[in-house]
Amino acid sequence: MPYKNPDPYGTGFLTFSAQEKIMESTIIKGKVCDRENICDCLTAGELDPCTIVIFGASGDLTARKLIPALYRMFLSTSLPDPVSIVGCARTDYDHDTFLDFLQESCGADTRIDMTRWPEFAARISYLPLRYDSLQDFLKLATLLDSLDLQRNTRGNRLFHLALPPSLYASVATLIGQAGLAGEFENGRGWSRIVIEKPFGRDLDSALALDATLHQHFHEQQIFRIDHYLAKETVQNILTFRFANAIFEPIWNRAYIESVTILAAENLGVEHRTGYYEQSGVLRDMFQNHMLQLLSLIAMEPPSHFEAERVRDEKIKLFRSIRPLHADKASVILGQYGPGTINGRQVPGYRQEPGVADQSLIPTFAMLPVHVDNWRWQGVPFYLISGKRMARKETRIVIQFKDVPHSLFRDILSANVIANRLVLGIYPQESISLTFQTKNPGARMCMRSMTMDFKYDDAYPGPSPEAYEKVLLDCILGDHMLFWRQDGIEQSWFLLTPLLNECETCQGRAQRLHSYAAGSWGPEAARIIIEKVLT
Ligand code: BG6
Repeated sequence: MPYKNPDPYGTGFLTFSAQEKIMESTIIKGKVCDRENICDCLTAGELDPCTIVIFGASGDLTARKLIPALYRMFLSTSLPDPVSIVGCARTDYDHDTFLDFLQESCGADTRIDMTRWPEFAARISYLPLRYDSLQDFLKLATLLDSLDLQRNTRGNRLFHLALPPSLYASVATLIGQAGLAGEFENGRGWSRIVIEKPFGRDLDSALALDATLHQHFHEQQIFRIDHYLAKETVQNILTFRFANAIFEPIWNRAYIESVTILAAENLGVEHRTGYYEQSGVLRDMFQNHMLQLLSLIAMEPPSHFEAERVRDEKIKLFRSIRPLHADKASVILGQYGPGTINGRQVPGYRQEPGVADQSLIPTFAMLPVHVDNWRWQGVPFYLISGKRMARKETRIVIQFKDVPHSLFRDILSANVIANRLVLGIYPQESISLTFQTKNPGARMCMRSMTMDFKYDDAYPGPSPEAYEKVLLDCILGDHMLFWRQDGIEQSWFLLTPLLNECETCQGRAQRLHSYAAGSWGPEAARIIIEKVLT
């Protein structure tokens, strides 16, 4: 299907001047801090009062991520004041049972100080609601109006869909039909909708979801979360590249040999086998997080640090990616078998409850990507991600080329080792540059050393967790860390043919390399993985 983007700016039906107005209004001011002065960067300044409505409020995401994030924001005064939080779900909780459920899950994290919980809890309400009932959504509208009056939240509303994706379309439609999607009408403020991945399961379903969302919401009202973008080191990639003059001149095919983006996990599929059997690693990690990391490393410098300009550059980068094909020699797909993780025996993927005995769903992939543009021609980008690998390790490795001519060639028994830059995302948020030094002594012996920057050492104290950052940005209306629809379409445009090939090709079972849980993935990918780990 040919790719068409009817709305290249991703801003719905707004006029150009209206787009510019929105763009200007969402630029969040920053500053250049001295070495001691970082604390006031944790908060974003004045926030609009608002009501945060969570659909799926009795679920796992609400309990494990959203409410703890909102409570931490409350403790650090980065939550708006006044604010109301309304939980909606099908479960027939009463107000107190709902609060008990939230308090229990929030308090399970012993690092959270629960002494101010009652003050926070006073801002929370619960409304049982059926996701297909307009009547229930009208009740919600009435509740929101009365909360606005009681708490002076000025009609600003954030709707967070912490729901299975199959419910996105119907909930977005009913929000619209209940008159809750319109902005700045009848004394109302803004209205925003937040959705989590997966944004469809291929290009067609992504377009269908988008069409439904756009029946009631403009693009600027839609926030599509990618929690990788909220990680501090991931955000730091742009600062590192574009706030330092020394790296950009060498950030190209003349100096860089290859780039590897590794997101290894030791967790398996946990309790999400139903979802994972439908998605596999390509949809779960590559369509979103891996492509976002790639775009930050490879995109051209935007003209401003501003959401639309940054997202424009990402789209250009996606458009330069050579079509992906599942040829055997390069794309490696794998599935974990039984093995040992941290001294504990764990079952293979096919033995996980809910997984088909003969499942051919990949839990590992290595995908070489080529960017066909002036800067990157000939430089391979290896994207690698897998479950149940030896440990959780997320890093981006920029491998520089060998020195063009080694004056040490006659006295060294080996080649001079080329420079390498590692951007660590997990377990350590760090940047380290490897270079060669001379060992002290009469003989000319060389040693690789690293210059290391570790976030923890440089910035003691808390940094906001990913969900705090994304919720704050939604309240601020800043789209920088969120997917724009044309990006979603481009990513599916790239991946859908590959997925079709992988899912229908001859000899699919033989192509799926098995690897033991707790190992570094299939043999066929080991050389590249081990190289970037040492
Ligand atoms: C999620 C995937 O988006 O990212 C999970 O659905 C994966 O399968 C997770 O485990 C990894 O995120 P992180 O932040 O732990 O690297």
